[in-house]
Amino acid sequence: MKNIVVLVSGGGTNLQALIDAEKSGNIKGGKITCVISSNPEAYALERAKNNNIPTMVIPRKKYSDSIAYSHAILDELNNLKADLIVLAGFMTILDECVTKAYPYKIINVHPALIPSFCGEGFYGLKVHEKALEYGVKISGATIHFVNEKADAGAIILQGTVNVENNDTPEILQRRIMENVEWKLLPEAVSLFCQDRIEIINGKAYIK
Ligand code: GAR
Repeated sequence: MKNIVVLVSGGGTNLQALIDAEKSGNIKGGKITCVISSNPEAYALERAKNNNIPTMVIPRKKYSDSIAYSHAILDELNNLKADLIVLAGFMTILDECVTKAYPYKIINVHPALIPSFCGEGFYGLKVHEKALEYGVKISGATIHFVNEKADAGAIILQGTVNVENNDTPEILQRRIMENVEWKLLPEAVSLFCQDRIEIINGKAYIK
């Protein structure tokens, strides 16, 4: 059974999708053993507590920079003996001390079709604001491994939705979450836990 640690910062709807999938037997070969939040107020913490999942808060604000913060996160991941780390709405870019210690073992959900609308500064609602500003007709979400560059690791799964004429960032975000993120994140986690993701020349393939 793989030991899954989920990192969160906010509402935690993606965490909820993972919890629901685990409960209904759809995370094959894995179990969420701890939820770590960068934000003490994150509602995601309540979701974990309601489901008897141990929680931990490592507040981003307590650390002077992202390197010091990443070392604190790394210590906990090592203590917890994480096999898989899932960034489910985690709003801090982790330093390479973490990504190098866990190559192809950190999965992120990004709310756009990478390589569009991604990288530093593209997170949460901002991503959807930029997509609408550009006028794209299709958007979606990407589940990918995390490496040293923001949103640049191997893509595992992607899914699309149509952008409608009267969309607001909030409406588009919700459509992408419901139709793509909440389905594909648990699916990718389950594939990982069954050792069904193969890496060849830096790209991910489903076996
Ligand atoms: C989700 O849309 C997720 O894709 C995005 O933030 C939202 C978190 O929602 N993540 C990023 O932008 C990371 N770069 P949640 O807390 O309800 O899961």
